[in-house]
Amino acid sequence: MGPRTEQKQVVLVTGAANGIGAAVAELAVARGHRVMLTDVDEVAVVSRARSLGSRAAACVLDIRSSEGWTRAFETADAAFGHVDVLVNNAGITHTGVTRDLSRQQHRDIVEVNLLGTITGVCTALERMTAQGHGHIINVCSMTSFLPLPGYATYCATKYGLRAFHHSVAIEERDGPLDFTIIHPPSTRTGMLEQEKADPACAVAFAEKSYAPQQIAGAVVDAIDTRPVEVVFPPLAGRVQRIAGVFPRLMRRVIPIAEARGLRQRERLLPHPGAGAGR
Ligand SMILES: NC(=O)c1ccc[n+]([C@@H]2O[C@H](COP(=O)([O-])OP(=O)(O)OC[C@H]3O[C@@H](n4cnc5c(N)ncnc54)[C@H](O)[C@@H]3O)[C@@H](O)[C@H]2O)c1
Repeated sequence: MGPRTEQKQVVLVTGAANGIGAAVAELAVARGHRVMLTDVDEVAVVSRARSLGSRAAACVLDIRSSEGWTRAFETADAAFGHVDVLVNNAGITHTGVTRDLSRQQHRDIVEVNLLGTITGVCTALERMTAQGHGHIINVCSMTSFLPLPGYATYCATKYGLRAFHHSVAIEERDGPLDFTIIHPPSTRTGMLEQEKADPACAVAFAEKSYAPQQIAGAVVDAIDTRPVEVVFPPLAGRVQRIAGVFPRLMRRVIPIAEARGLRQRERLLPHPGAGAGR
């Protein structure tokens, strides 16, 4: 961990039109940072940036595109002079068990969550090393510790991202950059809504979920404190981390969690006719 800094930073956030990325952008601006919001959804990201005032700007970026990454950094340089912090947040899922997803859906998840994020890290490494400072924050997932049914390829990308992240951070230990990885639990965004619609993802509802603003708090705090790794929430996160180390324990405990998730999910679903007669 580097020394704590309270300086106002220029932050480039991916997947900033919605969910956790949008909440990170909003909180970062509220704390005085300047933010380049990027997203594959151009209309949504431009409108989100406009709502945040003059310390925010927007740029379209599909994180799968290497040229797109270069353009996004150049746009941030033009707007704010440089980029101090990259929040590599964009990610997707396709819900369903492995045998039900198409080969293309498996490929999409890997191309966005793993290859897209790696491309961003490589771009940031080059540019931030040249400017002599920088901080790369990767938004990963608790599934990077714990394989879950209904999330096979998603989990694989997050396991892969964690391994990539720490490998690079160790390679770069004598350089000028800081590296932080943050693992959110179930968070109430469009992604979780998508999962709620599919019983294959029931395990996501076994534990309580969090608001995107709570995760944004951990991400934006990390801009100042530069921790190596953040599991959120700290205690439940540690339990899941340990469970992931023991395969026999996982095989026993995860189906129990999944059954609990199915029950909790049932309660969250809208029930046609509920409230009739009132
Ligand atoms: N929501 C959860 O329960 C949860 C839990 C753990 C980790 N995460 C991780 O947090 C991150 C944000 O997730 P979220 O829940 O806010 O999702 P979300 O679906 O609410 O928002 C994701 C944003 O990323 C954008 N996006 C999708 N593909 C893109 C691409 N190729 N290039 C650029 N932008 C793209 C979307 O347009 C959207 O604005 C993801 O990496 C996700 O894996 C989410």
